Amino acid sequence: MAEDAQRKRRSFLAALATGLALVATGELFWVASAFIRPRKRRDMRDRREGLIVAGPVETFARDSVTAFPEGKFYLVRLSDGGFLALHRRCTHLGCTVPWDEEAARFICPCHASSFDMRGAVLGPPAARPLDLFTVRIENGIVKVDAGQVIERQTFVPEQVTHPSARRRTAAPPPPRRDG
Ligand code: FES
Repeated sequence: MAEDAQRKRRSFLAALATGLALVATGELFWVASAFIRPRKRRDMRDRREGLIVAGPVETFARDSVTAFPEGKFYLVRLSDGGFLALHRRCTHLGCTVPWDEEAARFICPCHASSFDMRGAVLGPPAARPLDLFTVRIENGIVKVDAGQVIERQTFVPEQVTHPSARRRTAAPPPPRRDG
């Protein structure tokens, strides 16, 4: 009698162990696939959603800095009319850098690094300029690709996007005068 009860208990425990092993295996597959698939989709969505339409060129005054918190950048319009999109993250240790209108510079609240309107370093400890995002101007509308940070070591004029640059390259060649 006792032997029978013992056999029943053993087979119950064996069935329980098999069931638990199956559940654990199923969960492992589910976690693994959930980890891989949605990440792929999320990456694609991030790339699409990285583009931020800032607005028409004429809405940004020359010598102005406009914050776009949702894109984590400042859209700067320089005195020559060109645009730069500066990442708001300090290149020293990553604090968010506010624009100080009165001092006309970016001043980091963490260790006081400062940057000019083009993001170039004015005061250490930061050793590099603020990073950039790509600016595109299409049909007079300023767009910023906030999905990809562009690191730089120094400021060079080629980093500035001018509203007229695209029109110049897209302009048809002058008519030929034959004879
Ligand atoms: S994090 Fe900006 S100066 Fe240190």
